[in-house]
Amino acid sequence: DLSPIDKAKFAAARRATDYVEDGMRVGLGTGSTAAWLVKCLGEMVREDGLRLTGVPTSSRTAALAREVGIKVVSLDEARWLDLTIDGADEYDSNLNLIKGGGGALLQEKIVATASDQMVVIADISKQVDTLGAFPLPVEVIPFGWQTTKVLIEETLIGLDVLGRDTSLRLNGERPYVTDEGNYILDLHLNRIGNARQLSLVLNQIPGVVENGLFIDVCDAVVIGYGDGRVEVRD
Ligand code: A5P
Repeated sequence: DLSPIDKAKFAAARRATDYVEDGMRVGLGTGSTAAWLVKCLGEMVREDGLRLTGVPTSSRTAALAREVGIKVVSLDEARWLDLTIDGADEYDSNLNLIKGGGGALLQEKIVATASDQMVVIADISKQVDTLGAFPLPVEVIPFGWQTTKVLIEETLIGLDVLGRDTSLRLNGERPYVTDEGNYILDLHLNRIGNARQLSLVLNQIPGVVENGLFIDVCDAVVIGYGDGRVEVRD
């Protein structure tokens, strides 16, 4: 029996399979909600003969997709995707997102941007008026990361944000390392006044690879509720 939160995630994931058509090339997101989606799609491949080519956004998702019987190719093999379905840590009323809580933001952003359509699956707890309560993940090159951290903190002084604390994401006692071999700084901003500006400014800092703000990328959010109801915002 599923908990209400898992029921919500599963309901959103299952509804999002409606966007998937036979023969599509589909970007497969990362995280607990996206894992439900991959399992649903695997079932459709195995039981309904759905033909699907999946491009995973992380090594974790690649392993799960193979396990459930989805044909997996790299983005370079697929080149362009019909659709990406992924989770999010926050979404606002303009369908702008914070992603990267699971550490896969770089591949997620590249894959979503290479897709004709991006659909987010999320439980209602991810909905916010203003982005920023969830710490914003920023992927940085390990070389000189402490200098990059200070540069980011100095840059934040001039911007419309409420907090400025940044912390290196850890995996036990060691830095968390992404699939690309980079580190993640989590920015505790509390409230992001101008997400578009923040995203542009962060990506201009040397050492920053990418940030977790997805602006004008998402086309629809499938929202799941604890009682299994689903709502679509687009
Ligand atoms: C992974 O890097 C993230 O962007 C996920 O999409 C996000 O953390 C959502 O994960 P859950 O579905 O587990 O909440």
